[in-house]
Amino acid sequence: MASPVAAEWVRSRPRRETPRAKDNLTALVLADPAPHLARALEESGHTVTRWHRFLSPGQECAPWPPPGPFGEVWVRLPRSTLEATMLLHAAAARVEDGARIHLFGAGDEGIRSAAKHFPAGTGEAQAVLIKRRCRVLAAAREAPPPRADGLDSWETRAPVDWGDGPRDWTFYPGVFAHGRLDPATALLIDCLPRVPAGGRILDFGAGTGPLAAAALEGGGDGPEAVLLDPDAISLAAAARNVPTGKRVLGRDLAAVSGPFDLIVSNPPIHAGKPQSLRAVEALVREAPHVLAPGGELAVVAQRRLPVDRLLGRSFNRVRTIADRGPFRVWFAKVARADEVRQAELGQFSQVT
Ligand SMILES: C[S@@+](CC[C@H](N)C(=O)[O-])C[C@H]1O[C@@H](n2cnc3c(N)ncnc32)[C@H](O)[C@@H]1O
Repeated sequence: MASPVAAEWVRSRPRRETPRAKDNLTALVLADPAPHLARALEESGHTVTRWHRFLSPGQECAPWPPPGPFGEVWVRLPRSTLEATMLLHAAAARVEDGARIHLFGAGDEGIRSAAKHFPAGTGEAQAVLIKRRCRVLAAAREAPPPRADGLDSWETRAPVDWGDGPRDWTFYPGVFAHGRLDPATALLIDCLPRVPAGGRILDFGAGTGPLAAAALEGGGDGPEAVLLDPDAISLAAAARNVPTGKRVLGRDLAAVSGPFDLIVSNPPIHAGKPQSLRAVEALVREAPHVLAPGGELAVVAQRRLPVDRLLGRSFNRVRTIADRGPFRVWFAKVARADEVRQAELGQFSQVT
């Protein structure tokens, strides 16, 4: 709803707020997955550039917005406060003094208190439109923002420890488990099998890369890790954290070439607000096609989710490996007939 409300403001804003033909009629739209605002800007004569950190169908992505200067910038309020601050800095670095920076979002996303995220060097942010529980805030740039432009300025380093001592880990705003090791990820790391030298590991939904890093460390010399994620900023962090890994921007296994001896994943469950198992379903469906013979898929998720049932649709050997707090780890493989027979004789803990 926020993008249609911002579009409404573009179509109805008073003359004094409307860039004229002699002005720089270019607009940069940051992190808005919906088309409404960009369309309204184009209809009002702007050349529009869109930037997204996430890859999705028909949408390119990059770790940082393209350089300006643009006539105006629009920022869709992101979930994390730090990310909002970062995007508004990036916005202010892409216009000249006097140009407008807009922030738009919904009430339940925190737009009512979001004026404080504008950087020093912008005038007071005013709500220029309040409608359908959404707001459009606008402020004019008066001076360049304080931080240097670029993702590097937003790097946070924090110690993470999965049992063999703390290591310095790179995070950027908006990545999963910013500043810490997620407990579900930690549980899966505790269960990771050794991948032999020459073996291949895929980290599906790699984020900043802890699972790939731990799997590589446990594997002695020589396994190769591929880190797949649709978030260009997460992969920029992974580049720092797992420099030997191969990073792939993607949303599914079509983006990578097998075979893999091990696929590890703490998969995305919340694609937007309503819970969604779509990415896990696709992972489970496609994994047997990219696993090497005898290869395994190792997944951690909340135990209340029907992950074992999903795994049972594609794999004939599914084992629960660990249970801790609300989380559970499953290993799944396409077993050979003799392994299935052995399992039926009770030598394995569970077969579905
Ligand atoms: C629960 S986080 C886990 C991150 C990391 N593995 C960790 O344990 O810290 C899930 C990750 O999946 C990524 N993701 C979201 N949609 C995806 C998709 N369709 N395919 C693959 N990864 C996806 C997110 O960007 C996020 O980094």
